[in-house]
Amino acid sequence: MLTAMSSDSCSGSGSGSGSGSSAVEQAAQALMRGELVAFPTETVYGLGADAANPAAVARIYAAKGRPSNHPVIVHVAKPEDIKSWCSDIPDQAWRLADVFWPGPLTLILKRHPDVDAAVSGGQTTIGVRCPSHPVARELLTMFAELKQQANGVRAGIAAPSANRFGRVSPTRAQHVRSEFDDLAAQGMPILEGGDSEVGIESTIIDLSSVGSGGEPALLRPGAISAEQVAAVLGQAVIGHQASSPRVSGSLKAHYAPSTPLALCQPDERSEKVSVWLAAHVGEGRLALLTRDPDRVAPSTRVLVIGMPGDALAYGQALYATLRELDEMGVASAIVENVPNEPAWAGVRDRLIRAAAAFEGDR
Ligand code: TXA
Ligand code: MG
Repeated sequence: MLTAMSSDSCSGSGSGSGSGSSAVEQAAQALMRGELVAFPTETVYGLGADAANPAAVARIYAAKGRPSNHPVIVHVAKPEDIKSWCSDIPDQAWRLADVFWPGPLTLILKRHPDVDAAVSGGQTTIGVRCPSHPVARELLTMFAELKQQANGVRAGIAAPSANRFGRVSPTRAQHVRSEFDDLAAQGMPILEGGDSEVGIESTIIDLSSVGSGGEPALLRPGAISAEQVAAVLGQAVIGHQASSPRVSGSLKAHYAPSTPLALCQPDERSEKVSVWLAAHVGEGRLALLTRDPDRVAPSTRVLVIGMPGDALAYGQALYATLRELDEMGVASAIVENVPNEPAWAGVRDRLIRAAAAFEGDR
């Protein structure tokens, strides 16, 4: 399960040096100046900016190449801080916050009328999350203190995942450096926080209409399942509706590596591998991602990559493995799908979206 990391292991590797202040402190100061900062969270690394500064938020969109109507999540130091970002907060939000925060859950609520629309892509709702990673918490707390000293009304860090639009989210500081080598060269602070413990993005639950009789809705599955959320609320959570607000993570083709990737059922494995090998003679090796590597016949043209049998461990390993595929120079990859069960919903969703990016290619 999710365990807290020691902050001792998170040294931080900020830009400037020699001031005697910590990397986290320097990053908080950079945020105050309207600059971008990459930081670890327990889900994936985020590309952060002062959420109350529209010019700083615009820098995130420019860096990612993300359409400006896609909202970003505002990260806060403490659950009660959402009061300055949201209005009409329903009781359901506080119940979920009590159980799951700090942690990998994002809530969509009504945007506070004083909050600039840029942060939520022009929508009347806003995504908020209180992350649990110790470095994220330290950064958020320090940033909130600096904001208060500067008489700021609200403190929050707007942060999407620190990857270019449509690409695999980063789960290590090194992934962020390779995605944004240009910004890293310009001195953007990239805080070190080890491997992300959850490894896939937060579960998103939309509570923005429960105050007016609507139902809680799952917008993006993650490590916290819709069933866990429903159990806390004592109320059903509906699936993603066509009328739901824009969520880039809900685009069909998303979270994709460069290596072409296809999904198969475990019992189709041998057939799919044989068909690929026959159709791509002389085109290099095929990677096979399987939770059952011992049952695959050895072959020089098939690189067998064993994946964890447990859903949380699989989620933790997934994006780093997809990035490694790109580095290993395999021609293509076949991934055995995971069980259609609540605990696997987040991983399954990411695998389906990664494969969707290549549908039509084959
Ligand atoms: O785990 C996470 O959530 C990570 C870490 C950094 O916190 N962040 C993340 O951000 O995954 P991003 O921007 O890559 O994905 C956030 C998703 C997007 O699909 C966005 O459209 C959706 O949340 N979102 C944010 N605010 C929303 C809103 N007001 N209504 C609907 N969707 C929203
Ligand atoms: Mg993302």
